Amino acid sequence: MSALLTTLALLFTLIYTVTSSCTPSDLAALLAFKSSLNEPYLGIFNTWSGTNCCSNWYGISCDPTTGRVADINLRGESEDPIFEKAGRSGYMTGSINPSLCKLDRLSTLILADWKGVSGEIPGCVASLSNLRILDLIGNQISGKIPANIGNLQRLTVLNLADNGLTGEIPASLTALANMKHLDLSSNKLTGQLPADFGNLKMLSRALLSKNQLSGAIPNSISGMYRLADLDLSVNKISGSVPGWLGSMRVLSTLNLDSNMISGQLPASLLSSTGLGILNLSRNAIEGNIPDAFGPKSYFMALDLSYNNLKGPIPGSLSSAAYVGHLDLSHNHLCGTIPVGTPFDHLEASSFSFNDCLCGNPLKTC
Ligand SMILES: *[C@@H]1O[C@H](CO)[C@@H](O)[C@H](O)[C@H]1NC(C)=O
Repeated sequence: MSALLTTLALLFTLIYTVTSSCTPSDLAALLAFKSSLNEPYLGIFNTWSGTNCCSNWYGISCDPTTGRVADINLRGESEDPIFEKAGRSGYMTGSINPSLCKLDRLSTLILADWKGVSGEIPGCVASLSNLRILDLIGNQISGKIPANIGNLQRLTVLNLADNGLTGEIPASLTALANMKHLDLSSNKLTGQLPADFGNLKMLSRALLSKNQLSGAIPNSISGMYRLADLDLSVNKISGSVPGWLGSMRVLSTLNLDSNMISGQLPASLLSSTGLGILNLSRNAIEGNIPDAFGPKSYFMALDLSYNNLKGPIPGSLSSAAYVGHLDLSHNHLCGTIPVGTPFDHLEASSFSFNDCLCGNPLKTC
């Protein structure tokens, strides 16, 4: 009997969500959201008509039990037939209407790669307490990241890359304890990384390249046990490279290139068994390259070019398990290039513009 009731209830829910219109407030919010945007080439908003926003509205999906709008998923680069038919990628202008914030059950907001959406992120977005994914990559969004973004306690993905955001990273951002993926690359963000950045304990990718971030790398990052990818390249980061970066458990990609980093190169980075990509190019790192490579060093890419490194190339580098791409050019290195498997496939350009390096693939000593 109860099985029958459950079945009936499920059936009813199904029929309800398929046939009923969405709530008047969700409908009004979506229509206001649409009215502030203009997508001239694909016609995706032509599907946004009638009162049943939960079925057949392009990019919209609803929670089957509540019938409330749960996801807005609009990507300007997609394999969807609507794109194939138009034979082009998407383009959209306009801005994000604050009426969006009336969709208080929203869990996904993706308005990505439309190239032309501008204006600011409405501050009220921080009140969407069910939001898990906020992805606005690849537009022309300006202004600041909402100060109270840290209210979004369920957020797992925050992707605001490739926009024109200004101001500092809001202090509240580090309260996003569930965040796994943070991408703020290619904006105009200034100021320092929050000292308590390491509070983002679930974060596995921190992509912050191509901004104007300054200050040192916060020590709290050493406690981010899930961090696999840290990209702070092309900023104004100063201070030295912390040695603890070489002992972070899952860190495999570390890009600190094109900054103002000084001090010496920590041995721990070279002996690390996990780091596969290390780019420290275009900084002011000085001193010798530590003789710390070992049979577990496995670098897909190791780029130390354009620094002030001096002394010889350490012999231990020839004991590394693998070095795919090596760039030691534009330093002040001197001495004989070691012999061994990691060097067999390397070209002269890996070693050029140093003070007095010699031996294969450069001229004999
Ligand atoms: C390292 O960074 C520099 C400067 O930002 C860049 O030109 C270079 O291609 C990067 N190296 C690798 C191996 O990706």
